[in-house]
Amino acid sequence: MNHQPVEGFSKRSKQGKIDWLIKEYLNEDRSYEQVLQQYWNDDPTLQKLHEEFSENTISNFYMPYGIAPNFLIDGKLLALPMAVEESSVVAAASKAAKFWIDKGGFKTTIINTKKLGHTHFMMKVEPHKILHFFNFNLKKKLFEATEEITKNMRNRGGGILNIRLIDKTADLENYFQLKASFDTVDSMGANFINSCLEQFGKTLTEEVQREESFTQEEKDSLQIVMNILSNFTPDCIVRAEVSCKIEDLKDDSGISNEEFATKFKRAVTIAEIEPFRATTHNKGIMNGVDAVVIATGNDFRATEACAHAYAAKDGKYSSLTHCTIDNGVFRFWIDLPISVGVVGGLTNLHPLVKFSLALLGKPSAQELMSILAVSGLAQNFGALRSLVTTGIQKGHMKMHLFNILNQLGATDEEKNHFVTYFKDKTVTHHEVITEFNNLRNK
Ligand code: MEV
Repeated sequence: MNHQPVEGFSKRSKQGKIDWLIKEYLNEDRSYEQVLQQYWNDDPTLQKLHEEFSENTISNFYMPYGIAPNFLIDGKLLALPMAVEESSVVAAASKAAKFWIDKGGFKTTIINTKKLGHTHFMMKVEPHKILHFFNFNLKKKLFEATEEITKNMRNRGGGILNIRLIDKTADLENYFQLKASFDTVDSMGANFINSCLEQFGKTLTEEVQREESFTQEEKDSLQIVMNILSNFTPDCIVRAEVSCKIEDLKDDSGISNEEFATKFKRAVTIAEIEPFRATTHNKGIMNGVDAVVIATGNDFRATEACAHAYAAKDGKYSSLTHCTIDNGVFRFWIDLPISVGVVGGLTNLHPLVKFSLALLGKPSAQELMSILAVSGLAQNFGALRSLVTTGIQKGHMKMHLFNILNQLGATDEEKNHFVTYFKDKTVTHHEVITEFNNLRNK
């Protein structure tokens, strides 16, 4: 069937949008309406709140919201909220948290909290000439022009930290940047940064026109390309680590502590040198990071982009975690660049986000950075621990078992049977189907 483009879709009512979809794409099958409606909240105020988070909302999309308890982080015992659909993530986090709880737990250090943004512009001018103009005129004007915008942030202890003119003409003809660094305190700060940058674009345009040292041709050549924050924040970074004596590094898979430590470290080294492995390794880290990022109402696309850009910062994609064994001490750590907020955005709006932040003891943005790095490190510890001992499928399939059983329409009684059945066996899809058929044919 050929579909026609729709005009004014966003202006239709929710029902109007659903009617159109059912007619245009779903063969007039009204049962789909029921699928959407069953996820509407009974409380119309709550439903409206969710609908207004985004455009063209017709239903809500549930994600499991789970808890990984027993995280000892910088001496505080926390239960982490995790919004994630992948079956083994919360279990792996909980297991890793428990492993480290009696070994001093996780320690974190905020290395820096600087965020960045750019006004990208083109100008046909000698770099030394515009640099002189920037240093002796423009820089001061940029700070002055943004005073109103930055007032509240300055009162909270943040603001614009510095502005630099960057000559990029070696990479692209006539290309320059105003590169600014910001402290956005407890907010992620995207709107604040972008507002400042847009003002920079305007002020740059005005001041170039006023500047007497530029020729008319130079003035006319100025083009502001865009004003936008950078999601790559290598200087907004936190370190989380665990360490213990090898003699305390007991794994329950039956191998010696030394062998476990050596195999674990080798797995990290492979991720450090091999991008194919590093991608999966870091994906596992982000399983832990994103789940808490989502539960706390932050932007997981931004944290993903930043983490992967950082992983490639030396020109070759590599591991975000590292491991050493020195003088009988096992040390495992992550340096995670991450920009998050605990005020603004969804944080004061989404009831579950408010719950998550309350559960975490109303952390500052820096404390949340620490929690997120720990969640990533714990997840990576759990994955590598399984990979170098039992293999990943044992734990994965154990958690995935319920997905398979639900697909088969198993009853609660049948599910209990399978839990006992697979107590000492690795779950495979084939084995579940075979045993399910046995059970039903009995
Ligand atoms: C699966 O979501 C994540 C893992 O593949 C991570 C890893 O291999 O390190 C288990």
